[in-house]
Amino acid sequence: MQGVVVRALLTVMVVTMALAMPAYARDWWGAGEGRVFPAVADFPNEHGTLRVLLQDGPLDTRGHPFFEPLGPHGRACVTCHQPADAMSLSLASIRQQWQTAGARDPLFAPIDGANCPDLPHGERDSHSLLLDHGLFRIARPWPPRDHAGKAIKPDFDVDVIHDPTGCNLSPRWGLPSDDPHVSVYRRPRPVANLKYVLAMGFAIDGKRGLPLPLDPDTGKPVSGNLMADSRVLTLKAQMHDAARSHLGFFERLTPAQIERINDFEMRVFTAQQQNRLGDSLDAGGAEGGPAKLADSEPGRLGSQGIGVWSEFAPWERADDSSVTPERRALRESIARGARSFRERTFLIADSRGVNSPMGFGNPMRDRCALCHNMSQMGMDVAPGQVDLGTTTQPFADQQPHLPLFRITCKGEPHPHYGRVIHTHDPGYALTTGRCADVGRITLQSLRGLAARAPYFVNGTASTLREVVEYYDRRYSIGYTEQEIEDLVNLMSAL
Ligand code: HEC
Ligand code: HEC
Repeated sequence: MQGVVVRALLTVMVVTMALAMPAYARDWWGAGEGRVFPAVADFPNEHGTLRVLLQDGPLDTRGHPFFEPLGPHGRACVTCHQPADAMSLSLASIRQQWQTAGARDPLFAPIDGANCPDLPHGERDSHSLLLDHGLFRIARPWPPRDHAGKAIKPDFDVDVIHDPTGCNLSPRWGLPSDDPHVSVYRRPRPVANLKYVLAMGFAIDGKRGLPLPLDPDTGKPVSGNLMADSRVLTLKAQMHDAARSHLGFFERLTPAQIERINDFEMRVFTAQQQNRLGDSLDAGGAEGGPAKLADSEPGRLGSQGIGVWSEFAPWERADDSSVTPERRALRESIARGARSFRERTFLIADSRGVNSPMGFGNPMRDRCALCHNMSQMGMDVAPGQVDLGTTTQPFADQQPHLPLFRITCKGEPHPHYGRVIHTHDPGYALTTGRCADVGRITLQSLRGLAARAPYFVNGTASTLREVVEYYDRRYSIGYTEQEIEDLVNLMSAL
């Protein structure tokens, strides 16, 4: 009898817990809610807690152009750049929004929240790339246009080989239209820690052997690290691009609106604050967390890969007896992951932007931190367009849900792929018009990863483990199970 009662009680407890914690219910921030953006906000995720800091905050978001709906879709910038998701947008939040608010939610606006705008609105299949992979449609003009909007004569032809969304062959939206566009499908990038994204490391773009790209408005050099394909060079140009493409807002943003968005974007910082055992990531010797990011200067954080994630070095021998063995083990694993990221070498081959034209050789023996070299951020201090193979065959796994393009180089063949290339997203080549740039994608910052799965530009890694497994295959690294776990633990603590 007693056993039955205990079992019944346990069942009630388990059910209640399951109801209370639907895999981390996301705190959704709708357009125009007029909330106050706090100076500090913490959000739980499966790997611990993410913290979002607003320097000199809080901010009343009523009437603020990042938070108020602009344009006909009822969307705001915050719709796709959610605080709980490290100012990006996780697949978990997208699905939650579909379940709770349905297809009428502005997030699913057909313009880029459907596989193609002409599909029947509201049917799940029409939004499958967003609901299954977290991807928005990005329409790039063909032929490409330079940063001033002038058409470029590309040195390659593009043919559509596979068009599962119908958007690339569509007479209205695709290449055959009067206003030809290539539709690719991409993840939102975090709008946070931007002083690092905009910081300049070297005076030249080593990947092209040219001076840094110049802001067309001011003529001043810029980092070249915005957007997967670097199609805009400044936050201002990015705002116009986002307002037109995502919000359908075709009026010019006013100087006052630009100023307010810029002010907010430069003040917001985010990083994981606690690991899954509740250990503070900016305590116990380690100096992580977003406060450190807000306080440090990109210049001082420097450029040398040797310093990447060195803030976890004190945890290598976490002999603090006040810490439980379980906590100590996790701390040590994170620290080993950080060391592996800086020091564990493997053969990097056929990655344009590194193996060519940099003169480092092909293959070359190097580390994660060769490419992810900015201390505290893990992006590239140089303009970070590198071909990791995530969008291009043979390295990209078959992705039948994504469009596949055949690129035919008209002049010089591509140094690693030859004359004909198959790609789901030509990346940087859609900005430069050069076949040598096919598959090059701007490195992202690695902060707040725990809050914003899936990963890579096209969401092809659904977990952090899948990220490491991709590298293990791509470069035949031969990681041990322990090494994989250490890298995953590191990334979940950033
Ligand atoms: C419908 C979803 C959506 C909306 C709405 C949206 N964005 Fe984005 N945002 C994206 C996607 C997707 C990317 C990545 C695009 C790419 O890499 O090609 C992005 C990238 C960015 C980036 C680049 C970050 C980096 O490190 O490269 C910034 C900055 C940004 N958005 C700001 C804004 C602003 C400001 C607004 C409002 C005017 C806005 N976004 C509205 C989806 C959205
Ligand atoms: C040859 C240069 C290079 C090396 C070496 C490299 N990466 Fe990357 N990494 C990139 C590029 C380029 C991207 C962006 C590709 C994309 O988004 O599809 C990226 C993206 C990522 C992302 C996804 C970030 C996001 O927001 O989606 C993670 C995580 C990551 N790398 C971790 C690692 C780890 C761990 C290692 C070592 C095993 C490593 N990288 C080695 C170039 C490199």
